[in-house]
Amino acid sequence: MQARVTVRTMVADDLADVSAIANEAFGVVVEQLSGHAVGQPFFPPLMLPTRLNADPEGCLVAEDEAGVVIGALITATRGSLAWFGPLAVATAAQGRGVGQTLVGACVERWRARGVRLMGLETFGHSDQHVYLYSKLGFRASWTAVSLKRALTPDESPDESLAGQQVEIDAAPRNLDYLYPGLDLAAEARAATAGLGATLATGDGGFAILHTEPTFMQGRKGFLPFVAAPDQVSFGRLISAAERLSIARGLTSLEVNVPGGAWNALDALTARGYRTGWTMLRMKQGERPDYDRANIFYCDNWK
Ligand SMILES: CC(C)(COP(=O)(O)OP(=O)(O)OC[C@H]1O[C@@H](n2cnc3c(N)ncnc32)[C@H](O)[C@@H]1OP(=O)(O)O)[C@@H](O)C(=O)NCCC(=O)NCCS
Repeated sequence: MQARVTVRTMVADDLADVSAIANEAFGVVVEQLSGHAVGQPFFPPLMLPTRLNADPEGCLVAEDEAGVVIGALITATRGSLAWFGPLAVATAAQGRGVGQTLVGACVERWRARGVRLMGLETFGHSDQHVYLYSKLGFRASWTAVSLKRALTPDESPDESLAGQQVEIDAAPRNLDYLYPGLDLAAEARAATAGLGATLATGDGGFAILHTEPTFMQGRKGFLPFVAAPDQVSFGRLISAAERLSIARGLTSLEVNVPGGAWNALDALTARGYRTGWTMLRMKQGERPDYDRANIFYCDNWK
């Protein structure tokens, strides 16, 4: 039977409920799909408030008839390009249309805000997930690959980049060369207000670094966004992110690369990064292949 739900904008007071629902729902599904129990909480405590702060207009909750929160969807709206996830429905309320209602409301709001390409990341080996998002108009053809490398306090700086300037905590560069209308301002503000830093080169390269545990548990750095017009600029941004992470006492740095962005994959592999898990990306809208082989681009929205 379909649930009667009301969808509304998430507010900070919802975060305790959202966190409980998301941690439980992901704990169950990840254990089902992987066969391994997940330590709780699945999401580090900083993650949900960070994401709500960066996109308060996009994040949604679903309430039942009694006003109890039974589902939540978190968005990252980057101007014309937007992603959602995590999406979670309370285990007791699953299978009654709540997830579809939340995604439908999200897509409607994004269209009203001028989003032209939208997507999500999911479990490519789960019939349920691929079916659900296909039914809602998203198409499966893309992947994301995680790459990571250990950092050691005594490693020497990359000599080939000596003297190259990278500006720390700079405002986002114009990123139209990657996707017209792409706007990282909100996430950049969150990074420079205590989560990490932004990094920029004079030729249009831009990166966001999280040195606090927003998605990674423990003393690990994460790069939710890197875009550079060429390999030199890309190397400068990655090198600067590594130096800053080491200076802040972090022991590894992780980055996610669109599976099609082979230049970025090769450049990171050459720097000693090792591939890990992959996830399925599903998209709908204009220019779905913007993250193509010849660009230097890494992204996620964690
Ligand atoms: C995934 C999730 C958000 C979906 O929300 P939900 O409210 O349960 O989903 P809905 O009831 O709206 O839709 C589920 C659809 O999947 C279908 N489905 C369920 N199990 C399925 C299976 N094993 N194979 C194929 N389809 C399946 C249902 O029939 C339904 O489709 P229909 O309406 O066409 O019949 C929810 O189950 C959840 O929170 N799961 C745990 C966390 C998670 O996986 N989040 C998403 C990660 S990308």
